Amino acid sequence: MAGNGQSIYMDYAATTPVDPRVVEAMMPYFTERFGNPSSIHTFGREASRAVQAARETVAGILNCKPGEIVFTSCGTESDNLALRGATLENGRRHIVTSPVEHHAVSRTAEILHAHLGYGLTVVPVDAYGMVDPADVADALRDDTALVSIMYANNEVGTIQPIAEIAAVAHARGARFHTDAVQAAGQLPLDVAALGVDMLAISAHKFYGPKGVGALYVREGVRLVPSQSGGGQEGGRRGGTTNVALIVGLAKALEIAYAEREAHVARYRQLRDRLIEGVRARVPDAQLTGHPEQRLPNSASFALRGVDGNALLMHLDLKGIAASSGSACLVGTPEPSEVLMAMGLPPAWALGGLRLTVGRHTTDAEVDAVLDVLSDAVARVRALAAA
Ligand SMILES: Cc1ncc(COP(=O)(O)O)c(C=O)c1O
Repeated sequence: MAGNGQSIYMDYAATTPVDPRVVEAMMPYFTERFGNPSSIHTFGREASRAVQAARETVAGILNCKPGEIVFTSCGTESDNLALRGATLENGRRHIVTSPVEHHAVSRTAEILHAHLGYGLTVVPVDAYGMVDPADVADALRDDTALVSIMYANNEVGTIQPIAEIAAVAHARGARFHTDAVQAAGQLPLDVAALGVDMLAISAHKFYGPKGVGALYVREGVRLVPSQSGGGQEGGRRGGTTNVALIVGLAKALEIAYAEREAHVARYRQLRDRLIEGVRARVPDAQLTGHPEQRLPNSASFALRGVDGNALLMHLDLKGIAASSGSACLVGTPEPSEVLMAMGLPPAWALGGLRLTVGRHTTDAEVDAVLDVLSDAVARVRALAAA
C-alpha cells in the first residue's frame, strides 16, 4: 500500500503477471519436453502435439479452425504480419485506418505508405475516440486492400463497432484486420460473430508470458510472411516454434475465458469506483474514452494543466504504478496523439492518466490511489505554475 513501502499496480493494460497455472503448464517444455516440433523423431512429435493442442485451444476460444491461427512473437508482430502480409499479397494499393491505433498498426501503415507508395486514409474519431462506420465507408476505394481498426483502445479503453466496420469493408471487397491486444481476456473474441479476416492478440496482456502472440487469419486470406524462413505456421511465419510460450499463451487464454465473467464484473466495480472517486476529488479532470463502450478494467482521464509524465513520477514515489497517454520524457512533454485526435486541446492532452485494474486489485488499493491522487495532481499543477 502507498506510503508504507508497498506498491500498488494500476497498469494492467501495460502488462500482467503470469498466472502460476500458466507457468506450471509451460515448465516441462523448457526442459524434458524440449523437442523441435519440426523434427520427425519422438521428441519432435511430442512438442508438435503440444503446439497442436495449443492451436486447438486458441481456435476454440476464437471460434475458428486451428489452421487459421498463426503463432507469433508478440502483438506487434501479429499486427505487422496482418498489415504487411495482406497488403503485399493483394494487388490493391490502399489502406484505411484510424488515428487512435497502436503504433504497431499506425507506424506500419505509414511505412507502407512512405516506402512502398500505398495510399493511406486515416478516418476521424469522435470525442470518445470512436470510429463511425459511415466514415470508413466514405474512405473506401475500389483499390482498398485493408481496413485496420482496433477492437479496444489501449489509452482510453473505447470499444469500436468492429462487426459493423468489418461488414462495411467487405462490401467493397477489402480485408478487415483488428488489433484485439487490449480486448483479449475481457471481450468476446468470436471471430465469426465479429466478421473479421484477421485479429491480433498478445499473451502478456491476459496473464500469459511476454514474447508470444497470435494472429487469426481467415481461411482463404493469403499473406506474404513478414518473417520468411522455414515453413513453420503453415508458411506464414518462419522460425523455430517457441513451444513453451505457445503452450503458455493457450493456457492463459483458456483460463481467461473460463473465468472471464467473474473477473470482468469485478473490474467494472473497481473501475467505476476509480472514475467516481476521481470525478469527486480531482478538479479539472475529464473522463476520456466512451462512458459505456469501454474496457471493463480501464479508467482514463485528461487533467487540465498537468504534465502527465511528471504526475506519474509523483505517483511512483508514492508507490503507485500508473500510465499516461504520452510516451515522452519528463521535461519535453508532448500531448497524446490519441487525445488530440479526440479533439482535446493541448493543455488537456498533455495530462493523460490511465489507471487499469486487474485480478489482484483490491478496493483498498483503489481508495489508496484516490487518497494520493488529488494531492499529487495539485503538486504537479503548483510546480508548473511556479
Ligand atoms: C493495442 C495494442 N496493440 C499492440 C500492442 C503491442 O503488443 P506487444 O507488446 O505484444 O508487442 C499493445 C501493447 O501495449 C497494445 O496495447
